This record gives sequence, structure tokens and C-alpha cells, in this order.
Amino acid sequence: MADGVAGKTILITGTARGCGRVLAEAFAAEGASVVGCDVDVDRGREVADRVRSGGGRMTFVEADVTDEDAVRAVLAHVADTHGRLDGAVNNAGTETTGLIADADGDVVDRLLAVNVKGVLHSLKHELAALKAAGGGAIVNMSSVTSDMTAVPANGVYAATKGAVDALTKAAAVEAAADGISVNALAFAAVDIPDDMFWRFLDDRGIPVETIVAAFPVKRLARPAELVAAVRYLLSDDARFVTGTTLVLDGGYTAQ
Ligand SMILES: NC(=O)c1ccc[n+]([C@@H]2O[C@H](COP(=O)([O-])OP(=O)(O)OC[C@H]3O[C@@H](n4cnc5c(N)ncnc54)[C@H](O)[C@@H]3O)[C@@H](O)[C@H]2O)c1
Repeated sequence: MADGVAGKTILITGTARGCGRVLAEAFAAEGASVVGCDVDVDRGREVADRVRSGGGRMTFVEADVTDEDAVRAVLAHVADTHGRLDGAVNNAGTETTGLIADADGDVVDRLLAVNVKGVLHSLKHELAALKAAGGGAIVNMSSVTSDMTAVPANGVYAATKGAVDALTKAAAVEAAADGISVNALAFAAVDIPDDMFWRFLDDRGIPVETIVAAFPVKRLARPAELVAAVRYLLSDDARFVTGTTLVLDGGYTAQ
């Protein structure tokens, strides 16, 4: 049985920066054909160009996951370019910090649109493509900041990730008979410069040492550890794992 992503066509949303960029670069280096998409066209193209100039296979499509037609077009690109889809990582997401007491309607709408509707649009069209391919795997990026744990000033974001976990379970039971697994990855504090985690610390003026001290392993997650968890959930070896949220948090939620 094949494991990992080599030889597979993998769609990753939100590849212009952060975790999506790291996953795209890693999976292309391992022999996957990666299709990336993002609203940030300049950085998204740069990432794909760099992957290709390093000998990897990656194409980039401009797409806002809040727009279902744009997501449909990404899946059409996958079909036209690769003929099939083997796996998808619904990684595009956004975060806005603020107390629930100060919640602004437009900000809440934006968080829900990107983090919940964006995942829903992606799931809808990926499930159709994977069914046509005879099966495959989907990983939705969740967070320990969800229904698992709360931190001040991150409640609406947490609600969107709780919704992602719920969508993951529902999609898993709906798609299991088609040979498709759907899982979520709830992670925290990956050490990727300028990703959402580091921007959160900067915005709130939180020293990274405070975060490290709160984790039983007393360090941040290495990018390779994030890649390994997603690779496992995309692998053929994980096909009996579905409808679950894998926690990658250095023991944070076990305390
Ligand atoms: N960084 C962490 O430690 C961490 C922890 C838990 C969960 N997550 C989740 O992992 C995912 C990636 O996080 P990150 O830190 O890399 O975030 P990031 O903000 O650094 O990158 C997110 C990417 O998604 C893109 N994006 C945003 N809105 C989009 C839209 N509407 N359509 C298409 N693309 C869009 C952005 O342009 C960006 O390239 C997110 O879903 C996030 O909630 C991250």
C-alpha cells in the first residue's frame, strides 16, 4: 500500500504564506503534484514559481474560498491539469482578535465567511472530485482554539474552528461510502515566521516565552511536525481514520 503523498494530486487552499506554503513546499518536494490557491496572488505565484524552479510540481490559481464559483473553478483547474484529485487540505483561514463584548458584525461575518463557508465550499467541490476519482482524503485545518480551549479575545475565531470540526464529522459520515476520509487537525503554535500564530503574539504583545511555558513539551511545534501530521491523514495508511480531529499541541489540551 502506498503511503504519503508521492505521485498524488493534492489541493491546498491558502498557499501564499504560513502553514499552506510550508505544506505545499514539503509535499511538492516529496513528489506530489500540488495545486495551490489564495487571494494573495503575488505571494501565491511566487511560492509556486519557487517550487517549480526547485524541480517540484505546483500550479497556483487565484481564488477566494468565500466565493463558491471561484472554488468550483479551482476544482475545474485540477481536473483539466491533472485529470484527478487524490487529496485536499482546507487550510485557508483568517483570524481577527477581539473580545466578544466588542464583537463587530462585519468582522464576525468575514471570519464566518472565510473559516466556515470557505471550508464548506471547498468540501462540497472536493467531495465531488474525490468521488469521481474513486476515493481520497481531506484534511481541514482546525485549532485547539475551538470548542477545546478558550483564550481571551479569540472567541469568534474559536467558534469558526468548532464549526470546522462539526463539518468534518458530518462530511466524513456522508462520504465514507465513497472511499473518502475527512479529518481535522487541531494544532497550536507552529514555529513558522509571520504565520497567524506569530501575528497573534505580535498583535496582543504576548512574549513567545509565555506560550512555550504553557506547553508541557516546552517548545513550539516544528513545521516538519505539522507536515507529518497532514501527510499521515492524507496517506492511504490512514483510510480507516475518518471523522476525527487529530490534536497536535505538545500536550497543551491534556493538562
Ligand atoms: N499558525 C498556527 O499556529 C495555527 C494554529 C491553529 C490553526 N491554524 C489554522 O491553520 C490555517 C493556516 O494558518 P496560518 O497560520 O498559515 O495562517 P496565515 O494567515 O499565515 O495564512 C493563511 C493563508 O490563507 C489565505 N487566505 C485567507 N483568506 C482567504 C480566502 N478567503 N481565500 C483564499 N485564501 C485565503 C491567506 O492569504 C494566507 O495565505 C488556518 O486555517 C488557521 O486558522 C493555524
